[in-house]
Amino acid sequence: MPTIWVLNGPNLNLLGTREPAIYGSTTIADLERACRDAAKAHSIEIDFRQSNHEGALIDWLHEAGRSPTGETLGVVLNAGAYTHTSVALGDAIKAIAVPVIEVHLSNVHAREPFRHHSHLSPGCAGIVVGFGVVGYALAIDGLARMAKTRSDARK
Ligand code: DQA
Repeated sequence: MPTIWVLNGPNLNLLGTREPAIYGSTTIADLERACRDAAKAHSIEIDFRQSNHEGALIDWLHEAGRSPTGETLGVVLNAGAYTHTSVALGDAIKAIAVPVIEVHLSNVHAREPFRHHSHLSPGCAGIVVGFGVVGYALAIDGLARMAKTRSDARK
């Protein structure tokens, strides 16, 4: 089955208890369920992962990039604070051929100035910011539509 990878970066394992006024009370298990529900509507599988380590996120992007054409439709990536610091993650996104959608639960542009810059955005196919958990479903829908447009263009 075609797959979308959902990669979550540092501190997102603490969703539900971490700064609930900003990130809400949804846990990462709830988030995973919401992603699987959004994907089911398109008959797409979800590969859902979380790591607090920058290198693990880079390795996973490379792994997604190596998967056979058509099998991985794209990556939904919430890199947490690495978004604002990691040149290496930005380079990894540019180095792979699968589309990456950058997602943030909070509206980073309404927060501290250091969160306004993203090293990831220039390499991403799209960005979803400030919709909370719903943003992941929007990104999954967007990747499914992009994949359909690509396959229609090949016909
Ligand atoms: C975040 C925003 C980042 O600035 C922050 O460091 C996070 C979460 C979000 O989903 O809103 O860890 O990516």
